[in-house]
Amino acid sequence: MSLEGKKILICISGGIAAYKINYLIRNLIKSGAEVQVLVTPSAENFVSKLTLSTLSKNPVFSDFYSENGTWNNHVEFALWADLMVMAPCTANTLSKMVHGMCDNLVIATYMSAKCPVFIVPAMDLDMYQHPSTRQNLEMAEDFGHIVLPAEVGELASGLSGQGRMAEPETIIEKIEEFFTSDLNSKSWAGKTVLITGGPTYEALDPVRFIGNHSSGKMGFSLAEAAANMGAKVILISGPSSQTAHHQNVEIHRVTSAREMFNEVFKHYGNVDIAIASAAVADYAPKEIAKEKIKKNDDSLTVELVKNPDILKTMGEKKTHQFLVGFALETQNEEENAKGKLEKKNLDIIVLNSLRDAGAGFKGDTNKIKILTKTETTEFTLKSKAEVAKDILNFVQKEISK
Ligand SMILES: Cc1cc2nc3c(=O)[nH]c(=O)nc-3n(C[C@H](O)[C@H](O)[C@H](O)COP(=O)(O)O)c2cc1C
Repeated sequence: MSLEGKKILICISGGIAAYKINYLIRNLIKSGAEVQVLVTPSAENFVSKLTLSTLSKNPVFSDFYSENGTWNNHVEFALWADLMVMAPCTANTLSKMVHGMCDNLVIATYMSAKCPVFIVPAMDLDMYQHPSTRQNLEMAEDFGHIVLPAEVGELASGLSGQGRMAEPETIIEKIEEFFTSDLNSKSWAGKTVLITGGPTYEALDPVRFIGNHSSGKMGFSLAEAAANMGAKVILISGPSSQTAHHQNVEIHRVTSAREMFNEVFKHYGNVDIAIASAAVADYAPKEIAKEKIKKNDDSLTVELVKNPDILKTMGEKKTHQFLVGFALETQNEEENAKGKLEKKNLDIIVLNSLRDAGAGFKGDTNKIKILTKTETTEFTLKSKAEVAKDILNFVQKEISK
């Protein structure tokens, strides 16, 4: 595939695998891409700027300032790029990226970038397995970045295990895939997408509530992925510690189902696509005690009343919107999901089953099936960021039918 005219910013940090980046650059240039290389000060010990600049046909920078007193404008590099590739990405650079420790040109550029970011980690197996690296990679995925996992094999230390940088051929393959995918073509530019996510909390008294285990990760992953496709995203989230970093995502935080209902219908009429991934409480206490309920009696009865059904109302009020629902079922999964799809006038429904290990509420992974009125498509267990892309890809295909 040709990468003609694609602007790729390669950022090299200080790992042994840096020597392989020469091949990557050579092949990117052969495919027609424009390449700009930045290196961390530490990476200069591993690669030659002369080789990199000869191959990339551009000067290579590592400092904020040039010798003649001019500065290397990180914002310009960042805004120039269609794609930023951090390869190899050391444990140190990864950590700086996710914690905003901006002490070199590479990180300053990364923090100014609006384009998608590939992270290609490379390190010794114990560094790769360390909880800090695991957590930092998860955070990077939560930011919406694309991580190309390290491969298993012989490592520079002489040990063997997972830690080898993905081979340049694999990196190029992923870059090509990225540019051909609908998900990155800004094909949703001009569209507005409404997404609900997270749990709802239904207050019992000033300190207690009825809630559920939803983390909100699915909704935030969907929001980042839709924003990466160029859409304006209105994310209405129940209580969740998640946050979105994309400038196209407008977050509206609510607590109860009723608040979510009110917020959704402030926007619903003006959106093109609505994705209801929130785990909304079906019932709420009839009365909210003004003071903390005391432990006086052996039992306590709380009367619950039905909350408004947000998804059903979205289906009833649907005019032009493409409507996506979610179902979390514990029994007769497909049958129940299909029933919900029809009853609530949805276009598609995403089913996750609590029976599947790694699927559902709290974790970082999910395993889904997508049902239309006529067919069911099953997906493998993936990170929620990947699942979000599968869902949006599916929506895109349905819309363009
Ligand atoms: C010979 C050698 C090889 C190294 N290889 C790696 C590596 O593959 N991955 C890694 O995360 N760190 C590696 N390090 C450690 C990094 O170079 C070190 O953490 C450095 O501070 C990284 O800086 P940077 O992230 O700013 O480039 C290596 C160090 C040496 C001396």
